[in-house]
Amino acid sequence: MTEYISTKGGISPARFDEAVLQGFASDGGLFVPQTIPRIPDRTLSAMSQMSYTEIVYEILSLFIDKAVIPETDLKQLIDTGFSLFDHPDLLPVVPMDADNNLYIMELFHGPTLSFKDIAMGFLIHTMDYLLHKRDRHLSLILATTGDTGPAAAFAAAGKKTIDCWPLYPLGMISKEQERQMTTLTADNIHPVCVSGCQRGGDDIDIVVAALFSQPELKKRLNLSSVNSINWCRVMVQAAHYAYGYFKICSRVGEPVDVCVPSGAFGNLFTGFLARKMGIPIRNFICANNKNHTLHTVFSTGIFKKEDLRPSLSSAIDIVVPYNFWRFLYFSCNRDTEKMNQWMDMFERTGEIRLDKKTLANIQKGFKSVSISDEQTLVTIQGIWKKKKYLLDPHSAISVCAATILGAQAKNRVKTICLATAHPAKFPDVIRQAMGPGNPLPEQAFHPSIELAKNSDETFESCDLDCLESFLIHRISRTGKTRSN
Ligand SMILES: Cc1ncc(COP(=O)(O)O)c(C=O)c1O
Repeated sequence: MTEYISTKGGISPARFDEAVLQGFASDGGLFVPQTIPRIPDRTLSAMSQMSYTEIVYEILSLFIDKAVIPETDLKQLIDTGFSLFDHPDLLPVVPMDADNNLYIMELFHGPTLSFKDIAMGFLIHTMDYLLHKRDRHLSLILATTGDTGPAAAFAAAGKKTIDCWPLYPLGMISKEQERQMTTLTADNIHPVCVSGCQRGGDDIDIVVAALFSQPELKKRLNLSSVNSINWCRVMVQAAHYAYGYFKICSRVGEPVDVCVPSGAFGNLFTGFLARKMGIPIRNFICANNKNHTLHTVFSTGIFKKEDLRPSLSSAIDIVVPYNFWRFLYFSCNRDTEKMNQWMDMFERTGEIRLDKKTLANIQKGFKSVSISDEQTLVTIQGIWKKKKYLLDPHSAISVCAATILGAQAKNRVKTICLATAHPAKFPDVIRQAMGPGNPLPEQAFHPSIELAKNSDETFESCDLDCLESFLIHRISRTGKTRSN
């Protein structure tokens, strides 16, 4: 039976359903599986012939016991989770640059046009399934830098078992992302625009973590989280690494690199997980924008909270990549004493310095780079001119990073760049890249974004200083309505 423990080592092993419904581990750590399963060789050889959802099933069945979710229910949940993707391949892989062996894997064909839809649909449907069985209700609170909020709100809209509170920093997400949350008409979705966030979504994360650190309050308000804190999100994302690998490799074992625009390190931690499970990815390229906490720790071993610098790729304007703790847990050989010291010190001082051994471990199969706004714009322009392919700013960070590190590599291999959002979510950046007076290309539009422009918005506003009490008050009031 797969059980889940905490990166801080302070809880007894939990079942999959408990880990998913709780979100955060009660000792303040993150849930991780007691052991990382290996994909059996037979399954690995068969994966090149499988569809994406078949691969999702193979991966998930290694983490979820049949006693918790029986096989037919799991298959049904997976099908429902991906039913609204608008591309027949769900996650198409397109060759981009034959000379440099670059491929783009489009992760943005879900209903809210970012890679967050991949795991969020499955997670919310699974929560709803588990809650129905228990006759329970949950309030989901989540900080968003612009894409998690829409994905969660869309998937949760209309679910009787869930109320969803996406919290976003005022002026730090695109208007298009904001409207994806505020124009949903479901009465269980409560977007909150938070002012006074100097460190963007990271400031909201602190308030959310403070709520979760109060066990009685968490229980009374039935709180949970669907940020990539939630193990379920991480687990589902492992499948796209396997799928992408098999799409482009000519034989199992061929080395392939994957480049990932990284913010909270959720997607990249999953890449690490997929490799540990047996997907033979050679190097991951961790691509930061000018908020380069991750690039700094990969190159120096110093994990440090910097001031936030707003960038054109705003969804990865993140200074505390919380999934890095999961990666550190495995990179220090699951030393929970060390993890407690590091997490406490980071909370007190905003900085830790990794020992040489851990630094060497994190660098195994990881490269990193920080990309400026100017490089982002030049990449969008260059790929548009050469290929008539329009990148969103986050996908541009990925392509730019892969091109730079590919040019430096002695031994170049096929490289997949993850394209994590549709350009229609960021028309202002695309306009800047196209230059004054030039019209936006057709690819910069999407019918769902156009529809939202003409719909009424509903949201509440709150200052960061009052956010904790605001949420406690509103969530208790809504909870009372739900139980009547
Ligand atoms: C478009 C986009 N790309 C990349 C990322 C980074 O993903 P992660 O936070 O899992 O590193 C995010 C979210 O943070 C995103 O919204």
